[in-house]
Amino acid sequence: MRKLTIMIAASAALAALTSYANAESMIGDPEAGFTFAKQQCAECHLVEPEWVGSFGSPAKSFTEIGSDPKTTEMSLKVFLRTPHIAMPNFILTEQQTEDVVAYILSLEATRQD
Ligand code: HEC
Repeated sequence: MRKLTIMIAASAALAALTSYANAESMIGDPEAGFTFAKQQCAECHLVEPEWVGSFGSPAKSFTEIGSDPKTTEMSLKVFLRTPHIAMPNFILTEQQTEDVVAYILSLEATRQD
């Protein structure tokens, strides 16, 4: 019985891993990501392309995050899938993650320095 439980758990983990791998090849839509960010992230982050700084929130603006040379597709995805203390743990679908990551990375082009 115990063996069966382990096997079920293992195959579930494998299925999750496979869907994760498939999701990696998905392409995010920055427009959809912007819409999503305005709904879900704007409470704490400045999400508009031209906005920098903060409004007293400890969270950086998306333009700042997107312009940081250390920000990559992978770093954003890892951040969004890792539990945080300061930021609520959103349950984003794979598509929402792709979209919002594509949007944040698109902001790199708007940086003014
Ligand atoms: C309730 C406030 C709050 C909301 C809502 C919120 N964040 Fe955050 N976020 C924070 C805070 C505070 C930090 C900085 C602390 C940390 O790293 O956990 C942060 C950090 C981040 C970072 C890492 C920035 C860096 O330093 O590189 C990313 C990426 C991010 N948020 C994306 C998002 C996205 C995408 C959403 C919408 C789905 C979102 N956040 C919604 C508060 C929030």
